Amino acid sequence: MPSVSYDHRAVTVDGKRTLLISGAIHYPRSTPGMWRSLMERSKEAGLNAIETYVFWNLHERQRGVYDFSDRLDLRRFLDIAQELGLYVILRIGPYICAETNYGGLPAWLRDVPGIQMRTDNEPFLREKERWLRLLCDYVRPYFAPNGGPIILAQIENEYGNIAWRYGEEGERYLKRIVEMAESLQVGVPWVMCKGGAPGVIETLNAFYAHPLLDDYFAKYPDKPALWTEHWPGWYDLWGYPHNRRTPENVAYAAARFFAAGGTGMNYYMWHGGTNFDRDGSFLQTTSYDYDAPLDEYGLPTTKMYHLARLHRILQDYAPVLVNSERATPERLQEKVSVYAYQQEGRSLVFLCNDDTEGAVRVSYGGRRYELPPQSVTLIGDGRVLMNTAHIEPRDVVERRMRPCEPNLAPFQWWVEPLPDGAPTPLHPPILTDKPVEQLQFTQDQTDYCWYVAKLMILPHQEGRGVLELQGVADVVHLFVDSQFVATTASPLPENRNLDDPESFTQRFELTLTAGEHTLAILCCAVGLIKGDWMLGERNMVDERKGFWGNLLWRGEPLHAPWRIQPGLQGEHCRVYAEGSALVRWESSLEVARGKPLCWWKTTFERPKTNAPLALDLSGMTKGIAWLNGRCIGRYWLAPGTGNPEEWLLQAVYQEGEGLPTQRYYHLPSDWLTERNLLVLFEEVGGDPTQVRLCYRG
Ligand code: GAL
Repeated sequence: MPSVSYDHRAVTVDGKRTLLISGAIHYPRSTPGMWRSLMERSKEAGLNAIETYVFWNLHERQRGVYDFSDRLDLRRFLDIAQELGLYVILRIGPYICAETNYGGLPAWLRDVPGIQMRTDNEPFLREKERWLRLLCDYVRPYFAPNGGPIILAQIENEYGNIAWRYGEEGERYLKRIVEMAESLQVGVPWVMCKGGAPGVIETLNAFYAHPLLDDYFAKYPDKPALWTEHWPGWYDLWGYPHNRRTPENVAYAAARFFAAGGTGMNYYMWHGGTNFDRDGSFLQTTSYDYDAPLDEYGLPTTKMYHLARLHRILQDYAPVLVNSERATPERLQEKVSVYAYQQEGRSLVFLCNDDTEGAVRVSYGGRRYELPPQSVTLIGDGRVLMNTAHIEPRDVVERRMRPCEPNLAPFQWWVEPLPDGAPTPLHPPILTDKPVEQLQFTQDQTDYCWYVAKLMILPHQEGRGVLELQGVADVVHLFVDSQFVATTASPLPENRNLDDPESFTQRFELTLTAGEHTLAILCCAVGLIKGDWMLGERNMVDERKGFWGNLLWRGEPLHAPWRIQPGLQGEHCRVYAEGSALVRWESSLEVARGKPLCWWKTTFERPKTNAPLALDLSGMTKGIAWLNGRCIGRYWLAPGTGNPEEWLLQAVYQEGEGLPTQRYYHLPSDWLTERNLLVLFEEVGGDPTQVRLCYRG
């Protein structure tokens, strides 16, 4: 059985140094029917390993109830990797960040008494250890020493980013989790990305990792340089433009890393896929395309073909690279350097131009080369093999969304009753003096929670004014006397601060007449945070949704008893699935077009094409969609008007400013039947006659 270890140069499998070119494919972000082709394509593109996080938040949505079925069938995923001869890097966490709900921690963890996440805290460590033991037993046969594909395992994730918050307590935590990891006896090396501890290999996460290598080797002279997250694109947020990174830039960063002495790289993401259901973290779009080499639908892109050429060269010369010492660069010009590797009569030379602006001409080995800005020329045994800035015309692929024929049947509708008009609610409403945040009632089983109060507006208060909600998250829709009056403006900031009252305050301009009014607020969560920093200097346990603060009208507080009602009627009776028969659907489209809180349903025949399908949700505003009773995700057509964070611009550019961040929504072919039921819950108001079934071709 293979043994896995490492030396100062590379990871070793059975004593042999191995160059790792790996790609992240998160099993819950595609469906089992896609896994084989995703991995086959990865292999063809020159990867020899697949990396995935493990999603505790999805496997144990309720404490003690485990789900390893369907897209959570991790063993099946590992079986396919093994059948295809791919290694696996298993990043167990269980805190994983990953733009997944609550950073991979189950939402119920919030309710464990006395808990603080990711620090030396008994309740947290107890729950974490229970899960880690269960998970490691579940995948035990898949670790390399037991004959499986897993060669590396990760504990925690980027603790370096938050260590300063926890000081000595954080250090004790690290020590304890490394001991915990060791006691699991998985038989493969443990890694920790961005932030390490004795006993594990610390790994790098970055857009460019080569500038980090000198420091890395100074700190860890006896460890190989592994890059766990090379971001070939970036995730998208509702209300912000689409993030992209050029194939040339990704190839440059990859080649530059191997030139400078790295021997293991993982693209995060290689296939980004989809945040199905309510799995995405705060503000994440349902698409997790990531501008990755395999697109959301699993199809190859120009980026994939371009990188594949680089991978083939690197794999061909892998023995030359791993069996030589890290090359010492020879500087040809200020920003131009050469790294030469030689072994048993073969050689691989990297000519690197790190200048972001200008092309340069250089002489090397008696020949002249022109190097485009930020590019690497690879020379194998004296022959130019590629320059990372040159994309071969045959590697260029262009795909578009095209409408299917026939398309959707006409939509029917049913309006979600306002809390007052609802028949006896399934969950008795909660009566309180003050608003209370919603997660303690919903346990994050639904995005939705109603807050209802009777307000008395005195004669001097009547007219136009600002209604202010202090302490509210995320998106709210306001109804006064059953009329829809206002909604939260997009874009929301990705990072907020619980200690800055402004950060969670929302204001709405409206008109109120004197007298008594019923204010009904529908609070809609848009995913739980993925890390501490998203709340300012707080622990993740402080995450909250709904309404928990003061209500002010024209600057004066309004006091009233509140009725809190978690969830929607339509969710309770599952009108998006078999419960569809329980309500009376209407056909007269004109009446319902633009109505808030509208459930829309339609059917369609399975299209003849084998191409991946998507729903064009143009015309709709915000809500959730279901295909044959399965949730395909949240949707939101918010225009991309927000600005990206400055630091991303070192590698990423934006596309589609002002257009909806996400217009197309993946309908996985595994979920299709001959006759399909499609249901949308539209919160604000939409025109479903514009909605189209499309294929990607
Ligand atoms: C990293 C993190 C990943 C993911 C990535 C951004 O910092 O480790 O889990 O969140 O950022 O996509």
